[in-house]
Amino acid sequence: MAHRKITFDDRLLDGTIKQSDIDAYAPALAAAEKMLSDRSGPGGDFLGWLDLPTKTPKKLVDSIVTAGQELHDKADVLICIGIGGSYLGARAAIEFLSPSFEDLRKPRIIFAGHTINSDYLADLLSLVKDKQVAVNVISKSGTTTEPGIAFRVIRKWMEDRYGRKATAGRIVATTDPASGALRKLAAEEGYATFDIPPDVGGRFSVLTPVGLLPIAAAGIDIRKLLFGAAQAMHFCKGATPDANMAGRYAVVRNILFKRGYTTEVMASFQPQLHFVSEWWKQLAGESEGKNNTGIFPASLDYTTDLHSLGQWMQEGVRSVFETFMLLRETANTITVPEFTDDSDELNYLAGKSFEEINQRAYQGTLFAHLDGGVPAATLLLNSRSEETLGQLFYFFEKAIALSGYLLRVNPFDQPGVEAYKKNMFALLGKKGFEKQRDALASRIREVMKT
Ligand code: PA5
Repeated sequence: MAHRKITFDDRLLDGTIKQSDIDAYAPALAAAEKMLSDRSGPGGDFLGWLDLPTKTPKKLVDSIVTAGQELHDKADVLICIGIGGSYLGARAAIEFLSPSFEDLRKPRIIFAGHTINSDYLADLLSLVKDKQVAVNVISKSGTTTEPGIAFRVIRKWMEDRYGRKATAGRIVATTDPASGALRKLAAEEGYATFDIPPDVGGRFSVLTPVGLLPIAAAGIDIRKLLFGAAQAMHFCKGATPDANMAGRYAVVRNILFKRGYTTEVMASFQPQLHFVSEWWKQLAGESEGKNNTGIFPASLDYTTDLHSLGQWMQEGVRSVFETFMLLRETANTITVPEFTDDSDELNYLAGKSFEEINQRAYQGTLFAHLDGGVPAATLLLNSRSEETLGQLFYFFEKAIALSGYLLRVNPFDQPGVEAYKKNMFALLGKKGFEKQRDALASRIREVMKT
């Protein structure tokens, strides 16, 4: 049996959800599991992620490790350009597994193209002006506006600095194997490239070159990450909620949703987990929020947020359930020092580690929130290791895919993200959007009148 580095513990839901409620979901879970295994459900063409941990060719993994090492060696700063699924997985892994402060990392990895902001880019260019820079530009479609315009600015800056030919040697493009503007540009300029498998959607792509290359460049062992994910395949499969950990989590959140708990808060107790929550939010939100249904995924960083949104969690609208994401081991142990005068009255904590105190904060919060009417479960992670994270990535991907099928939506499309793009393109005067521009212009004029 695969060694589990993650555990989903829903014992404290007893009272809100009984084992018989979970068992009653077994046929629905079995049907969802079957739709994934025989590719018969909606979005069945986008299930390549299911087998990535075991089917990614060794040659590809080796070439990513080599390219990552080259980027690592040649750059003081690696700029990763991408948005959504083309950046969040790498950022989650790098933040979880690297030292807490960017100055302690070599190379420094800066993310760009996930926002539209001149100051951010200006500051970035000023930060790298005396540094050696390399770029990994990531876009499956190759046409996304945010990374596209950021890449234009950075590429122009690099070509002015290094010259066009040398710039090409500093850029790796990760994109669709055949189509899209980025693929075309990469071929014309001679950039090194990695392919994004056509059957893997953005938010499920962390274990493709989309995530693996920046993660490898950060000095993280991607073989161990894939190994962890492969281990999770064993305990995240099966037709019953008791055998299938991802299935159980999917069932629990669906039962809660049906009972009116429409928001799930992922609450972590370690700052290094912040971007894991951000990645999870995209995975869950974009997969499930459609057809006017879907659990709203939110996240909080404790204990920081206990001093702000903690009040809302304790006494706000009772439509929220909580999944605590807790790390069992940290790399270092710092204890509270003793002072003989005890002027700050903290000697009762002297000798205790920060983790011991954090553990009590978790237990205190858990029971306070349960008493306040917030159903809660806990996801326990062993350590800040590649294996643990690989298991966690796969667990969440499988759980959200199953959960989407339980909600009767296609978890692998995102038709809703097109709405803002169409309006934006129309307002920016993109060809083909003229009719929409006129309609929007008249709506804007109406508003201006009032
Ligand atoms: O999960 C998704 O499909 C999206 O979030 C995409 O990853 C995101 O929109 C970026 O798309 P692209 O990689 O085509 O630039």
